[in-house]
Amino acid sequence: MKIAIGNDHTAVEMKREIVAYLKDMGHEVINLGTDSTQRCDYPVYGERVAREVVAGRADRGITICGTGVGISLAANRVPGVRAVVCSEPYSAVLSRQHNNTNVLSFGSRVVGTEVAKLIVKSWLDAEFEGGRHAERVRMLDDIH
Ligand code: RB5
Repeated sequence: MKIAIGNDHTAVEMKREIVAYLKDMGHEVINLGTDSTQRCDYPVYGERVAREVVAGRADRGITICGTGVGISLAANRVPGVRAVVCSEPYSAVLSRQHNNTNVLSFGSRVVGTEVAKLIVKSWLDAEFEGGRHAERVRMLDDIH
């Protein structure tokens, strides 16, 4: 898969580890985040990743800030994005199966790197189930 990743200053090291992990799994990674620990604004990176996914230049997006909250809110402002913020794998999997999420967010100050990897792998492996969930996702996408 082609995966766009974005982060703010709180998540530079975690981003590096997640990028290496994704590449080890054979994914292509587009790094749209900051590589500097100088303070910056998470909405910039949430939007960048979101636009990459919506434009079809990436299959999925991953966004990381201190909590995962701000950057997921930014991504969710872009129509066509369904971003979920997770600190455990169960929600990550269900968000794929039921909500067809296309952006995954988590917090560098909330989860450790190994838990983050587990969340990423579970989310990437899970498939949207369609069926009764498809209409609900359509309803979500109709909210502007
Ligand atoms: C930065 O201090 C912090 O506010 C940001 O990383 C994120 O947690 C916002 O939601």
